[in-house]
Amino acid sequence: MQKKGAQRERILHLLEEEGGVTEDVVRRISLETGVPEADIWGTGLFYTLVSKPGKRVRVCDGLSCRIKGSDELFSKLRDAGKECEPVSCLGQCDRAPATLDEDLEQVCYGVEARGIVPDDPELPMNLGGPVRDSYSSLAKARETGSDAVIAEIEAAKLQGRGGAGFPAHIKWKGVRGQKETERYVICNADEAEPGTFKDREIILRQPHLLLEGLAIAAYAVEAKDICIYIRGEFTSERRMIEKALEAASEKISDFTWTIYNGHGAYICGEETALIESMEGKRGMPRLKPPYPTEYGFRGKPTLMHNVETAACVPAIVERGGEWFKDLGKTEPGTKLYCVSGHVNKPGVFELPLGVTLDELVEVAGGYDGEPVAFSPGGPSSGFLPISRRDVPLDFGHLSKEGSMLGSAGLVVLNDSVDMAKATGWQLDFFERESCGQCAPCRIGTRYLRRQVDSFIGEGDPDALEFAEDVGWEMEEGSICGLGMVAAKPLESAMKYFPEAFGSRSKQ
Ligand SMILES: Cc1cc2nc3c(=O)[nH]c(=O)nc-3n(C[C@H](O)[C@H](O)[C@H](O)COP(=O)(O)O)c2cc1C
Ligand code: SF4
Repeated sequence: MQKKGAQRERILHLLEEEGGVTEDVVRRISLETGVPEADIWGTGLFYTLVSKPGKRVRVCDGLSCRIKGSDELFSKLRDAGKECEPVSCLGQCDRAPATLDEDLEQVCYGVEARGIVPDDPELPMNLGGPVRDSYSSLAKARETGSDAVIAEIEAAKLQGRGGAGFPAHIKWKGVRGQKETERYVICNADEAEPGTFKDREIILRQPHLLLEGLAIAAYAVEAKDICIYIRGEFTSERRMIEKALEAASEKISDFTWTIYNGHGAYICGEETALIESMEGKRGMPRLKPPYPTEYGFRGKPTLMHNVETAACVPAIVERGGEWFKDLGKTEPGTKLYCVSGHVNKPGVFELPLGVTLDELVEVAGGYDGEPVAFSPGGPSSGFLPISRRDVPLDFGHLSKEGSMLGSAGLVVLNDSVDMAKATGWQLDFFERESCGQCAPCRIGTRYLRRQVDSFIGEGDPDALEFAEDVGWEMEEGSICGLGMVAAKPLESAMKYFPEAFGSRSKQ
């Protein structure tokens, strides 16, 4: 018998296959699946990659791409007669400004240069090293048993790398302890926080580490089904996963592997929105509790991890939790930091968790120009002034600064950047990506962006009179992390760069 909701789960895939939402397509899918046409419209229109059929070039307008001239590129392409659309981020901040071609296949880069820490076998992920595909850690996990594996994850004090830094072992124990035996492991490969492009590199360089980590997790929590939800624009990355699955099929065939495509909605990186999306619905975050460990995909216990978290697991099993913990400077383990903006060699660097900005930028080729600010972990982390360059870049210290490490998508800004404009760019992002479910987030993101625009356009500081109150309402009245932090770029910029928000002449 077919599972409840099985037909609904197909509709996004069918919309993608048929080229997007049109009257004919929706009618056909409705007849095939039995899902009402109105539902299919409502779902499809939520996702940018299926909502508007037709060819167009997508131009990235994440912070790093904007710094490197994506606005000018957009105008140039349009003047040349190209149909264009801005997109929030293409995960290519190290090669800004980036565009995605009309067939959603090929990402075109502004520059080719990229940085990766050189080959070092002492690093858990060692992105610059040879491909690790022995699956010996999975074999060891099977020998030692679930309890021993979970004990090593606990000893490693592995914190989730998706943004919140939540201790992994608590989730593993949470899923393992459920009575329900139908369980899922989901890999969150939606990587859409502007500034972040580390999961991309793991998938392209060490795909087997990811698969092995997920298989170990599934073995430990006694789940049979492993799902990978990958952002829609990552076409080469998806192919790499498929190739790796094929190559490793004999070693991991006791699990069922399914890849789900994202469809161009940033909010689907939030774990419950991601699950809704996998279930064929609009990607709107659920109220928590219950948490996915108890009530996740298809209402069953679900362990969800970011790509990087999963990729840490094989080394922990192989060399022990204590070894991993001791690699960190201020917090356990190494971290993949993504560095872009005004540095000489943007890229992904695996370093001890807790390095400072200067240590990180030294590896990234040094500052490009005179740095004035940095955004440590995507728009959600706001801005910090360069005077805070000594703060360890970890979860705890940045949180004490009123910022966050998030997914470690660090962007450096030099003195050529107008901080009010940079703030407006970040607010643009939140307004576009709010799912619209909660009034404070839906209205607040639009209000703040408009006020900053009118401040920049009119030069009137009174435009920002209510910004703080609105930010407070958003933090208090939003269901998910997006609305809670969407005012951060403005709050932090007004705090640290008041001169950018004083009276200014008309532009
Ligand atoms: C607005 C929003 C966007 C998010 N986007 C991502 C994402 O793109 N990738 C990711 O792994 N986690 C993302 N997260 C965090 C996930 O909700 C979840 O905490 C994470 O996948 C859990 O994995 P971890 O324990 O390995 O960190 C996002 C959270 C929020 C609130
Ligand atoms: S806070 Fe914003 S993004 Fe999150 S659920 Fe509410 S409306 Fe959607």
